[in-house]
Amino acid sequence: MISIVIANLKMNLTPSETKDYLMTLLPRFDGKVDLTLCLPYTSLAVGKFLCEGKKAVRLGSQNINDEEEGRSTGEISGRMLKDAGVDYTIVGHSERRKRFKEDGKCINRKIKSALKNGLGIILCVGESLAERNTLKTFVSLKEQIEEALKGLYENELERIIIAYEPIWAIGSGKTPTAKEISQAVKEIRRIIKDDFSQSASEKINVVYGGSIDSKNIKQFTNCKNLNGFLIGGASIDPNNLLKIISLI
Ligand code: 13P
Repeated sequence: MISIVIANLKMNLTPSETKDYLMTLLPRFDGKVDLTLCLPYTSLAVGKFLCEGKKAVRLGSQNINDEEEGRSTGEISGRMLKDAGVDYTIVGHSERRKRFKEDGKCINRKIKSALKNGLGIILCVGESLAERNTLKTFVSLKEQIEEALKGLYENELERIIIAYEPIWAIGSGKTPTAKEISQAVKEIRRIIKDDFSQSASEKINVVYGGSIDSKNIKQFTNCKNLNGFLIGGASIDPNNLLKIISLI
């Protein structure tokens, strides 16, 4: 059942553009799904001001530092995010894994820091094209999930959403088939079952991300075991995002 939509605005929209974005989006959003808006850091203040008290709307960040405070010029900690009104943070996005060399250990520390500060986590995992072509998708998912969730207690999984984002599908206009997404989601739940429990594997929310737009969303709304979508490029225009939500 699809009940979650997460918009990852990436490095788009200034604070004043975010204000216009939210003024268009929020009055027309009907609350039929839980909507998390992962805004750039500089837009969080206006996001908090305009989203506060809005039914089914949450504020998200796109990153978190793994430390609480100190000599990390340019970084933002979980404590700061919580105080800025953030509910969820993205961790492990492939763009950060690649460009900022974030490895499994770093992602694990970031998750622990988010948990410590009472934040929810959107954990991104997904295979590269080379892994897909050599049938290593499930091996890669297992490795990424196990590194990220190492040392966590089962009850902490309630605060985690796993986003299946094949790297080759991000911003490319290409997507897996609905069947392939269902298979990957099934595998993600199997990994959670093996490492935690059957009940944890049934309860954890899993969403799909990668080139979702209003033209293809209908193909995926019936994906077995899938709880929602993580949308990048198509979420930058509020009318487009509203259209996608209306088709769910
Ligand atoms: P696109 O929807 O632009 O492919 O981006 C997906 C993504 O990376 C969301 O985190």
